[in-house]
Amino acid sequence: MWSRSKHSFFSVILGRCRINGKWNTKLAIPPIGKRHKSFLSTDMPEAANFPNINTYEDLYKFSIAHSDMFWGELAKSRLHWDQPFTRVSECNMHEGKIKWFADGKLNVSYNCVDRHANETPDKLALIWEKDQPNEVESVSYKELLSMVCRIANCLMAQGIKKGDCVTIYMPVSPTAVATMLACARIGAVHNVVFAGFSAEALAQRIQSSSSKMVITTDQGVRGGKVIELKRTVDDAVKTCPSVQTVLVSKRTGANVPMSEKDIDFDEAIVNENSWCEPVSMDSEDWLFTLYTSGSTGKPKGIVHSQAGYLLYATVTSKFVFDIQEGDIFGCVADIGWITGHSYVVYGPLSNGTTTVLFESTPTYPDPGRYWDMVQRIKLTQFYGAPTAIRLLLKHGDSWVKKYDRSSLRVLGSVGEPINHEAWEWYLSVVGENRCTVVDTWWQTETGGIMITPRPSGVDDAIEPAMPMRPFYGIQPALLDESKTEIQGNSVSGACCIKYPWPGMARTILGDHNRFIETYYKPYPGLYFSGDGANRTADGNYQITGRMDDVINVSGHRLGTAEVEDVIDEHHAVAESAVVGYPHDIKGEAPFAFLTLKENQNISAEDLEKELKQMIKEKISSFAIPDIFIVTDGLPKTRSGKIMRRILRKIAVEDTDNLGDVSTLADPSVVKKLVASRKILKT
Ligand code: PRX
Repeated sequence: MWSRSKHSFFSVILGRCRINGKWNTKLAIPPIGKRHKSFLSTDMPEAANFPNINTYEDLYKFSIAHSDMFWGELAKSRLHWDQPFTRVSECNMHEGKIKWFADGKLNVSYNCVDRHANETPDKLALIWEKDQPNEVESVSYKELLSMVCRIANCLMAQGIKKGDCVTIYMPVSPTAVATMLACARIGAVHNVVFAGFSAEALAQRIQSSSSKMVITTDQGVRGGKVIELKRTVDDAVKTCPSVQTVLVSKRTGANVPMSEKDIDFDEAIVNENSWCEPVSMDSEDWLFTLYTSGSTGKPKGIVHSQAGYLLYATVTSKFVFDIQEGDIFGCVADIGWITGHSYVVYGPLSNGTTTVLFESTPTYPDPGRYWDMVQRIKLTQFYGAPTAIRLLLKHGDSWVKKYDRSSLRVLGSVGEPINHEAWEWYLSVVGENRCTVVDTWWQTETGGIMITPRPSGVDDAIEPAMPMRPFYGIQPALLDESKTEIQGNSVSGACCIKYPWPGMARTILGDHNRFIETYYKPYPGLYFSGDGANRTADGNYQITGRMDDVINVSGHRLGTAEVEDVIDEHHAVAESAVVGYPHDIKGEAPFAFLTLKENQNISAEDLEKELKQMIKEKISSFAIPDIFIVTDGLPKTRSGKIMRRILRKIAVEDTDNLGDVSTLADPSVVKKLVASRKILKT
């Protein structure tokens, strides 16, 4: 669609050097005029319609000052509209009322599939890297269109209509992706639930979204292990009266029991027509809901709309990763997370790119898995999580160097802060000091990447281990405790965003009040991300982590309250508090403190075993705390609020800096906790 320029703004980075500890790319670039001209005229032809744009910086400033003109131009040229829009943004950030392109109509699956199936029918849309290496399956755009249409017809035959919610509980596969797109084709709202969540967590998400249908597979396979997905769905739907039908696709072909509600999905779609007319959707109709953790025990169903989300996923994919014709884009996230939605499915496909679906794990069958895949499939972009990078780093360079990675141009990192060691290793060992490393900061709520070193002028060096620069149209602001914006550099504060952008979430399913309270009330008029950030002396952004009771375990977002709710259900437990503490591989891990009811006759070992099992069953394995401390009392204020700040310090053994504990109802509990932590260590 957009041809590669001779001096595309990524491909000209030929080498790097370090000056005063900072990466500098200035030595390896072509003359300035040529560089910017080629970038603007080939990669962003829309810029010709904006006045006085000669550099990336000009374009960024324009996108902030004339946001509607910027997004309006891109929406016209990058998306296919059934009915053109005449209005761009209509947003009130105080009230959480967000509308983009409201009077326009389009269909997301048409944009992601049909327009490419019409132009380049045989081009590969999906490459499925199955759990067993070398078991690769490919799907062309023409084939994907037929799959999407058959599934869409099947959903309609089962009574699914525009606006109905469909829960998808499937491993990463072409069928799962086609199912998401089929929902989009007929205007159903999809609710993908990560196929590692337990029956109870799945049931909670089905109930909360009032899903009429659940789509799953017989089993899943990951890292050589079989996962009983259908059995989990059977357990979940027992408590979900809204579910009328369960569609079951084959992954392993295992003989799973089928009940009255269950339908063989593969058989049903074979008999369907391979054409289904896409429904023209209003820009602001809902595309999907996706549950994510907040600071209470109840996950939030974040809602994204059609046009704004699609535009933002399309444009960020294209520019952050420098997608060019012929690229093979490899984002190894699961479709159960927002990264899978935006950068496995919607962003790459809307750009007409070939996208890889990765079913396995970073270490199966060995720690060379990712790089073996890069060599075989010739990936041009690789987008993964720091937790996997850290894990692979520990296994040594030989697993990487064994494979040819010369096809790679861009390496992305997402989901949690990437530490310096991992960043340097990613750049020098994986990327052979040749690839561009982009640390990308964003959230389920933002729909797409918000802060990222690219796009930017090629002469703009990339600082290690930070996302650095806001994307087009994004203006971050740091706020202090008095809710005042902090000006200048070398400062830190609550990370907010000043102006609306098309990809922002529209509401929390069934709870618009919580939406306003969480994101728009804390700093009126601004979007509050929940994260803290530094603005460095050079004006670059570095995320410092969550400011609320949310932690990031191996890149999985987890509310500590969710874990506490499960622990508190144990008959012997009186009270619990869970905090995050730094972990070498996982980034952060949960750490549980708990008190017991009186006269409990249970050994610490049995209690821990039972709690672990409960958390696995009610949430998922990643939520199991690494450490449990049973204690006599928790540090509380006189009004009864648990001082998690103190528990975090105890968890990391920073006990010399506990701060003022005199305001606690019973300061003596702190001493006991410190002693228990010490015993645990020895
Ligand atoms: O704390 C930030 C962290 O992940 C949170 C968002 O999690 P989730 O909605 O699950 O989306 C993850 C994938 C986009 C953020 O509030 N986070 C995400 N990316 C980064 C990050 N923290 C630091 N650096 C990042 N690059």
